[in-house]
Amino acid sequence: MPVPAPSPESSAVVTGASQGIGEALAAELAARGHNLIITARREDVLHEVAARLTERYGVTVEVRAVDLADPAERARLADELATRDISILCANAGTATFGPLSRLDPAAEKAQVQLNVLGVHDLVLAVLPGMLARKAGGILISGSAAGNSPIPNNATYAATKAFANTFSESLRGELRGTGVHVTLLAPGPVRTEIPEPGEASLVDRLIPDFLWISVEHTAQLSLDGLERNKMRVVPGLTSKAMSVASGYAPRSIVTPIVGTVYKKLGGD
Ligand SMILES: NC(=O)c1ccc[n+]([C@@H]2O[C@H](COP(=O)([O-])OP(=O)(O)OC[C@H]3O[C@@H](n4cnc5c(N)ncnc54)[C@H](OP(=O)(O)O)[C@@H]3O)[C@@H](O)[C@H]2O)c1
Repeated sequence: MPVPAPSPESSAVVTGASQGIGEALAAELAARGHNLIITARREDVLHEVAARLTERYGVTVEVRAVDLADPAERARLADELATRDISILCANAGTATFGPLSRLDPAAEKAQVQLNVLGVHDLVLAVLPGMLARKAGGILISGSAAGNSPIPNNATYAATKAFANTFSESLRGELRGTGVHVTLLAPGPVRTEIPEPGEASLVDRLIPDFLWISVEHTAQLSLDGLERNKMRVVPGLTSKAMSVASGYAPRSIVTPIVGTVYKKLGGD
């Protein structure tokens, strides 16, 4: 059975929907007729997104302002989702830090693990029983090409995305034949906004304009991939090249090279 068609009773959930890939996923789901529950921390921004999508596509959009790095807030959202008819979960919210772990803020590193790992795991655990009972559902997990191999100076992020990548692809294998699709979105760099002149990051400067892919294109490919129960969506040439390099080149060679690039991203 395909991922559930939109219905008045069901909703698709997008975490990290206040900007970037999450906002684009919410817009693409709304364009495909799904009612939505959108979450992030900034409630005012979420309400602006919700109003825009309702006006443009006529769908119902509920806003949940939740800090997914906070166990109590996360549990409240998970408890609600477990009681709702959730057709699609896009577990997308995530953050990254750059630089040597010993120099980063320990609290922010711990919050990153809570968000990138448990923000995915807890919500999947919440919606999965209902999807299995209905024999229909779609789970899209935003991992990363960064989760394919070790990345010095990006250790917490790379490790949390290794969790997301492996969890998504493992779960998909378990759910074959149940009607529940699971797809991993594992991009390399996706341009969430065009940098102002003079404010381009190292990554912006390293990757020429024609190799960047947009959040809108990423969202379309991801949801098309979920419909087909694709194991992994890797959008764009840069992402594909990163995935091939990390998949086939020996870790002992790739790791120091990548670590040097990420050291610069950390400001060194
Ligand atoms: N863009 C890329 O190049 C790229 C590449 C590979 C993988 N990814 C992955 O794709 C996903 C989306 O990336 P993006 O670039 O679109 O991210 P982004 O633009 O930085 O947006 C992150 C989203 O997560 C929300 N968020 C951050 N901290 C949160 C928290 N503690 N609790 C709840 N929500 C929180 C943010 O909203 P609030 O600030 O309002 O909370 C925002 O909506 C992430 O998982 C990222 O790791 C992105």
